Amino acid sequence: MQTSFVEKDPETKDFLPLNGTDHVEFYVGNAKQSAHFYKTAFGFKTVAYAGPETGLRDRASYVLQQGKIRLILTSPLKSDSPIMDHIKTHGDGVKILALWVDDAYKSYEETIKRGAKSYQEPQTLTDDFGEVRTAGIYTYGETVHLFVERKNYNGAFMPGYIAVEGGYEPESTGLLYIDHCVGNVGWNRMNEAVQWYEDIMGFKNILSFDDKQINTEYSALMSKVMSNKNGYVKFPINEPAEGKKKSQIEEYLEFYEGEGVQHIAVATHDIISTVREMKKRGVEFLSAPPRAYYETLLQRVGKIDEDIAPLQELGILVDHDEEGYLLQIFTKPVQDRPTLFFEIIQRKGAQSFGAGNFKALFESLEREQELRGNL
Ligand code: FE2
Repeated sequence: MQTSFVEKDPETKDFLPLNGTDHVEFYVGNAKQSAHFYKTAFGFKTVAYAGPETGLRDRASYVLQQGKIRLILTSPLKSDSPIMDHIKTHGDGVKILALWVDDAYKSYEETIKRGAKSYQEPQTLTDDFGEVRTAGIYTYGETVHLFVERKNYNGAFMPGYIAVEGGYEPESTGLLYIDHCVGNVGWNRMNEAVQWYEDIMGFKNILSFDDKQINTEYSALMSKVMSNKNGYVKFPINEPAEGKKKSQIEEYLEFYEGEGVQHIAVATHDIISTVREMKKRGVEFLSAPPRAYYETLLQRVGKIDEDIAPLQELGILVDHDEEGYLLQIFTKPVQDRPTLFFEIIQRKGAQSFGAGNFKALFESLEREQELRGNL
């Protein structure tokens, strides 16, 4: 499969230096129950909370953590709420992809100056543990990038939240950090979104796939991977493409009622034990590819450290590039609308995204889409 890498330019200065992903905030119908799901099934722990008990009148937020991954689950408490409006349109989904920066005010200024649409003006929040500065801009759809500066803070999460310790704490499943977050945009919108990340955020397009490369009998899509300068933050962008039947991206757009986050890829150092544990705890994954996929696996990807049997048993996919290989698997959507899902990924050198698996993956996705009557 052809991929096109674009050279990184180390000479020019980065106007938006990023330290990584700070957190991902979901707007959901029932944060209390969603928190239970992510704790029990994914192995997160609650580390902080904000709600009526802490003086918030309109919402409740649970901050969950595992490794370096921080998720916030937020629900509105009244019908008259922008959070409720978001949920009414999109269902449960990602509102905020927050980025960890050293200077939130400057991040805001630099991106607004380049044409970003403001979500939240810079503000400084303080409590006994120090200060956190935040500012936010809109990206695709109603999704937001929040810049979070926390170098002068040592509390549990952020002023306004109280630390949560003890209580119900299931074991970790071995999830470590966010590898990438993928966005779905509308027809003919991909290049616009790519341009936005280049112009506003200083990102580079490091990898591209077109519909000739990514299609099965029915489903087709186009994808471009955007990366910030140091490579700590990667946002692939998908757009639907014409196929014989409805693209999986089109199904997403229809049910999310707009553009938004399609999947969050989380990394592990031992995908076999992570996936085995998550399955035991009730996480549903896309069905395994046919046996032939595993019979020809070594011819396709070369020698790998893992035994084939557990990979086949769990339905884990393997792909390779010039730098090594990667193992990956995708969950089914984590809410009733066929929108957001998770990817579990273990990198063994490979820096790509599993394009060699797209065909096997899409055939599995199409089986699900067909069951939903959306193909
Ligand atoms: Fe991915």
